[in-house]
Amino acid sequence: MVMLVGSGRHQILAAALPISGGGPVVDLGCGPGLTLLALRERLGPEVELVGVEKGLPALEPSLAADVKVRAVAADLREPLPFSDASFEAALCHNTLECLTDKQAFLREVARVLRPGGHLLLGHTDFETTVFNSSDLELTRRLVHANADTQEKWMDDSDGAIGRKLLGIGRHSPFELAETFAWVVLDTSFAEGGVAHSAVRSIAASVRRDHHDDLAARLDEWVDDLRALVGRGEFLFSVNDYAVLLRTQRE
Ligand SMILES: C[S@@+](CC[C@H](N)C(=O)[O-])C[C@H]1O[C@@H](n2cnc3c(N)ncnc32)[C@H](O)[C@@H]1O
Repeated sequence: MVMLVGSGRHQILAAALPISGGGPVVDLGCGPGLTLLALRERLGPEVELVGVEKGLPALEPSLAADVKVRAVAADLREPLPFSDASFEAALCHNTLECLTDKQAFLREVARVLRPGGHLLLGHTDFETTVFNSSDLELTRRLVHANADTQEKWMDDSDGAIGRKLLGIGRHSPFELAETFAWVVLDTSFAEGGVAHSAVRSIAASVRRDHHDDLAARLDEWVDDLRALVGRGEFLFSVNDYAVLLRTQRE
């Protein structure tokens, strides 16, 4: 399935997770909780939601004030601090690349899910980043530099992990229920939008990894993107992939 989405990727993730038994639902590596917010919108106020982060998650204010949202500090490289079969469903987006032993993590998620429970395992495939640009070669080099980078808070990185989710899912204790691909599209380059965030991430990567020749050409590259915006020709896209995995039914 292919869909075009703007900034609504969290709504699409929340919608793709089968939940019929009233929860609870856990988001593993939830960040500020944008997918939890989308789950709350979809499921209403009664379903218990749990957000897990390495340190206690700094959740969006409405989630932090929500009595049915539990914030848990846990390192996903370690056994999860939950009993067997304690969740109806789980979600993990843009976090798996950081975990060195991905199968150990998936075994733990399978343990804490009820029989027949689902995990939606999603990831952006950063290698698929597309910018319309007057300088294709420079753009390719910038995109690859960003895909190959490893930020300080990551224990591992893989800019092509999105396309590997299917194989990772097939070798896990789960059965594969469905495979998704979504194209995230931005033609506006608006502040805070996905294209703008990608450019900031590229700039940070080339500086962090001391690609000095690329860093010296960042302003020229961004000026060109802005000129394309002015002519109505700017286009950014990147592919998100997800696999829906299911534990064995009893
Ligand atoms: C790119 S963010 C994704 C956040 C959110 N899932 C989203 O899609 O917006 C990855 C998150 O995984 C968390 N993370 C990375 N390694 C982790 C670990 N070993 N244990 C717990 N959380 C981890 C990071 O702190 C970060 O918030």
